[in-house]
Amino acid sequence: MMTSVGFLGCGKIGKEMVRHLRAQADHSVAFVQSPNFVDDFDLGCPVVRQLDESICQADLVVECATADVLKQHSEFYLRNSDMLVFSVTAFSDEAFAQRAQSLCQAHGTHLYIPHGAILGLDGICDARPLLKSVTIDTIKSPASLGRSDRERQVVYEGPTRGACVEYPRNVNVHAAVAIAGMGFDDTKSRIISDPAVTTNSHAICIEGDGISFRLEISSTASGGITGRYTPVSACGSLDRVLGGGEFRFV
Ligand SMILES: NC(=O)c1ccc[n+]([C@@H]2O[C@H](COP(=O)([O-])OP(=O)(O)OC[C@H]3O[C@@H](n4cnc5c(N)ncnc54)[C@H](O)[C@@H]3O)[C@@H](O)[C@H]2O)c1
Repeated sequence: MMTSVGFLGCGKIGKEMVRHLRAQADHSVAFVQSPNFVDDFDLGCPVVRQLDESICQADLVVECATADVLKQHSEFYLRNSDMLVFSVTAFSDEAFAQRAQSLCQAHGTHLYIPHGAILGLDGICDARPLLKSVTIDTIKSPASLGRSDRERQVVYEGPTRGACVEYPRNVNVHAAVAIAGMGFDDTKSRIISDPAVTTNSHAICIEGDGISFRLEISSTASGGITGRYTPVSACGSLDRVLGGGEFRFV
C-alpha cells in the first residue's frame, strides 16, 4: 500500500530520507514543513514554512527538527498521523510524554522511536524484566556540544532526564535507551567533551539478572550535531515503519 510521508524539519537527517524515498516508487512525500528548506529535489509536493493544517496531511510524519519543534506540533500531528521522531529528548518532559501517549490512544495513531545513532534498542527493551542498571557514556567534540573546552572534561554526570535538559540536541540516544529500558530517572548518563575527538561515540553498559551487555558505537562527526551513521540508519528505520516492523513507543 502506498503511504504518504510528511517531514517536520528537513536538514541533514530529513534530506537523506527524502532522497531515499524518492529512489523508490512505493511511497510518496506529501509535504515538507521547514522554515528554510530549499527544494533541490524538485519534489513536486507542498513546502511550507510553518504549519498549515490543510496542507500538512500524511499517513506518517517524520520529525527531524528539534525537541521544541516536536513539542509545538505534536498536538496537531498525533491527532492525524503516525510519527517517527528523531528529537527523542522531548520525552524527558514527563507531561509531554504523557500527553503524546494520550493523543495516540485517543486518535489511534502511533509514535515510533528510531535507533538513530546507536543500535540495540530492541534488545534493551526485551531485557526490561532483568535490568538492574543502564549507563551511557557519550564522547563528543566541544563544538558538537556547543562548548569551547580546550581540555577533555566530564560536562554532565547523572540521571538521563537531566542530560536531556542540558544537552537536548546531543543525547537523543540516551533518551531512546531510557525509553527502551529503565526510564529517564534510573538510566545514568555521562557526557564528555573532548577536543581531541572527530567522532561521536557512545558506550552503553547494561547489567541485569544473569545478563551483562556492552555496546560501543562510534560514528564520524561530519559537522553539525549528527554523525555519519544516523542519516543512514534513519532510512532503515523509515523502511521498517513503512513495512510495519519498527520499535513502537506508543
Ligand atoms: N535519535 C538520534 O539518535 C539522533 C541522532 C542525531 C540527531 N538527532 C536529532 O534529530 C534532529 C534533526 O537532526 P539533523 O542533524 O537533521 O538537524 P539539522 O539541523 O540538519 O536539521 C534540522 C532542521 O529542522 C528545521 N527546523 C528548525 N526549526 C523548525 C521549525 N520551527 N519547524 C520545522 N522545521 C524546523 C531546520 O530548518 C533544519 O532544516 C535533531 O533534533 C537532532 O538532535 C537524533
